[in-house]
Order: sequence, then C-alpha cells, then structure tokens
Amino acid sequence: MGGLDIDSIKYRKYLWNKEYSTRKALPSSNTFHPSSSLRRFIEKYPRIKKDKALDIGAGNGRNAFYLIQNGFKYVKAIDLSPVAIDLAKQEAKRLGLADRIDFIANDAALEIGKDVNSYSLIIDMTTLHSMTKSSRRETVKHIKRLIAPNGYYLIFTLLANSPAVVDLKAKMPGPEENSYRFKFEEDTITEKAFTKGELEKLFSPLKLIEYEEYQTVTRAYKGEFPRIYITCLFQNKP
Ligand SMILES: C[S@@+](CC[C@H](N)C(=O)[O-])C[C@H]1O[C@@H](n2cnc3c(N)ncnc32)[C@H](O)[C@@H]1O
Repeated sequence: MGGLDIDSIKYRKYLWNKEYSTRKALPSSNTFHPSSSLRRFIEKYPRIKKDKALDIGAGNGRNAFYLIQNGFKYVKAIDLSPVAIDLAKQEAKRLGLADRIDFIANDAALEIGKDVNSYSLIIDMTTLHSMTKSSRRETVKHIKRLIAPNGYYLIFTLLANSPAVVDLKAKMPGPEENSYRFKFEEDTITEKAFTKGELEKLFSPLKLIEYEEYQTVTRAYKGEFPRIYITCLFQNKP
C-alpha cells in the first residue's frame, strides 16, 4: 500500500485485512481448530477459575470459541482486523456463542487501555511477534494491570534463535532486536522474535511458571520456515 509507513498501525491493519480476506497465507487463517498451546494448557489445568478471559489478537475467533466451549463464562476477543472480526462474529452466530463473546475490531493497546475488567485468563496466541513496538509496549502494560490475582497469562510466540529467524534477520533486519522483514507479493511483513529472558523481563512482576519449546516447520507465505515456538505461562502471584 504505497505511501504508508510499514511500521504504522494502518499498514499492519491493511496487511491483516488482506490476510483474512484473500491471502490466507498463514495456517491460523485457515482453521477454526484451537491453538495446540491453548489446548494443552486447558487440559493440564482443568480446575482453573473459568471466569472472564481476554484474547489478544483473536483472529477468526478459534481460541475464544474453545475457551467458551471449555467452561469460560465470558471472553473479550480483540483483533486489529475488522475482516477477521467479521469472520469471527459469523462463526460465533453459527455456533450459538455470540452472547458470551464480545468481538472487537481495534488495536489491542487502545482497546484494553480503557478496560476495567479483571481476567482470570489472558491469552496471546502468536500476536505479540507481529505487533508494532508501541502497541506491544502499551498492550503488555495493560495485560499486567488486567490480570486477576492468581490469574494466568498464556503466550505462544516465536523464539529468537529459530533457524528461520536467524536466516531472515541476516537477509533483512527489522527495526528492533531480533526482528526482521521480508517481502511477500507486493507487501513487506515485519516480525519480532523473543528470548525467554526478554519475555520474563517484559511481563515482570508476573511469574513465569511454565516454559516449553516446540520445534516445527511452519508452512506460510508459500514457503517453509523452520521455527521454534515457545509457550510461556505466567501467573499473577501475590
Ligand atoms: C498470526 S495471527 C493469530 C490469530 C489468532 N491468535 C489465532 O491463533 O488464530 C496474529 C493476529 O494478531 C492480530 N494483531 C496484530 N497486531 C494487533 C494489534 N495491535 N491489536 C490487535 N490485534 C493485532 C492480527 O490481526 C492477527 O489476527
């Protein structure tokens, strides 16, 4: 999209709208099955408080549906892309879940900045690594504020020393540490990966209570990317 700053929210919104309307270059845009990381968490912690949950970068709603289907009373699901949110709303109606999920199209940083709820679970399934620096900073600040005492924050994201990250960074480094850019069709995609220590620092004073690495080859953007994903489970321990 000519003329737009590629690190602006406007450009990122344009990219994600394209992804959910026509491009469908990512596995998560092509399924309503929940993220494996979230499924493992819910199976491992069946007795957590299933009150209110917040889904940051909810995409087509697949993880929000899973939370409601597994006992949560209410989910607020936010995504930058109005196209993704329309898909999610249609699917929620089809599943008969529309009255228990609020799907909101907005930048998560802006939306949760005005939120006063207290959430027993906040999830981010592969959103943080595609956020702009300022959205990420504000979103993280508000996540820490909105987590209930003893509540959980579950994040599934990209590990910095993934072979694909090292390779892409060498070809076209991005504006931050462990970030990179690549061209796809007429667009420029920017992503940032994380180290374990960086996430611990970012989400402090939440306590990291579980950490898991998962090596895979992601088929995305018509290519194959050897990546290591990480799941971090943080808890707001008093
Ligand atoms: C890889 S997709 C994952 C979607 C979903 N979590 C899932 O697992 O299917 C990343 C999502 O983050 C959203 N996103 C990126 N930046 C955002 C922001 N600043 N605020 C809200 N959502 C954002 C994108 O629109 C996209 O839907």
